[in-house]
Amino acid sequence: MKLGNKSFLSLYDLSKDEIDRLIDLSIELKAEKKNGIYKYRLKNKNIALLFEKTSTRTRCAASVACFDEGGHAEFLGKNDIQMGKKESVRDTARVLGKIFDSIIYRGYKQETVKILSEYSGIPVINGLTDEEHPTQIIADLMTIKEKFNKLEGLKVCYIGDARNNVACSLIVGCLKMNVDIFVAAPKSLWPSDSFIVSAKLLSKKAGLYLTEDPLEAVKNSNVVYTDVWVSMGEENAPDIDERIKLLKNYQVNKFVMDQTGLADSIFLHCLPASHEEESHYLEVSEEVFESKQSYVFEQAGNRLHTIKALLVTLLGGKV
Ligand code: CP
Ligand code: NVA
Repeated sequence: MKLGNKSFLSLYDLSKDEIDRLIDLSIELKAEKKNGIYKYRLKNKNIALLFEKTSTRTRCAASVACFDEGGHAEFLGKNDIQMGKKESVRDTARVLGKIFDSIIYRGYKQETVKILSEYSGIPVINGLTDEEHPTQIIADLMTIKEKFNKLEGLKVCYIGDARNNVACSLIVGCLKMNVDIFVAAPKSLWPSDSFIVSAKLLSKKAGLYLTEDPLEAVKNSNVVYTDVWVSMGEENAPDIDERIKLLKNYQVNKFVMDQTGLADSIFLHCLPASHEEESHYLEVSEEVFESKQSYVFEQAGNRLHTIKALLVTLLGGKV
């Protein structure tokens, strides 16, 4: 895909060069904001934030990105609009396409974001579906590049529920950027065989390695990444207790971080993370979450600059 007046539905759609350009532009936009430089590249642009699931980072990043660039973001939560109740996705798409310049969608099925793009005729950005979370991964890659000054040749290790949206998008993003990705999860929580086969074709220089042993996966990793064990929409799934039991040896704690053997390895998490007060499991120990190795809040802040870079690129504003 060539970015510019197109949609961004999946990381599969972007080439390595396009991801590189988005990361570099995000770094530039971050510096501009720090220096109080505003160029209003989204002036007169109206962006619909169509969110069927809750959000802190993606919603706030998109709203502030629009404001910073002179555009307007309209939040359309699931209880605010007719879609899903009185109106079909197709009709909603056609209506929004006549009124807005772009849609950022967060919801359930990947199919929905495709329908929105097809029927609205305006650029649509996937702000998380059950299958993918592509905007998150651009921010993750930016955070890794800021820390290590490069991507190619690095090793990322993902530990936890490896079938979820973040894990699958991270695998695709790393391989596209020639970053080795090691995944540690119980076999029943690995991505599907068809996903693994197609992901492995994405890079000639880097590999995807799956194991059930977190200590093996984490060796020499520059980045250790995890996500919640129960994603949005799965709260009442019948296998949850079983899944949490299966994952109890997959917590990222200090012992696991130490096994990287590298003094400068970092911990990442897309957030929100589980904490003792509100969760009956912890995918990351408080010690690691609060440690110097934890870059989770830099990572969260980078959601702003990366969504801004995407909007500016997709809506064709002058960069
Ligand atoms: N990481 C992320 O997408 O956070 P939100 O769910 O708060 O948007
Ligand atoms: N896997 C998580 C990511 C949240 C940003 C979820 O879908 O809930």
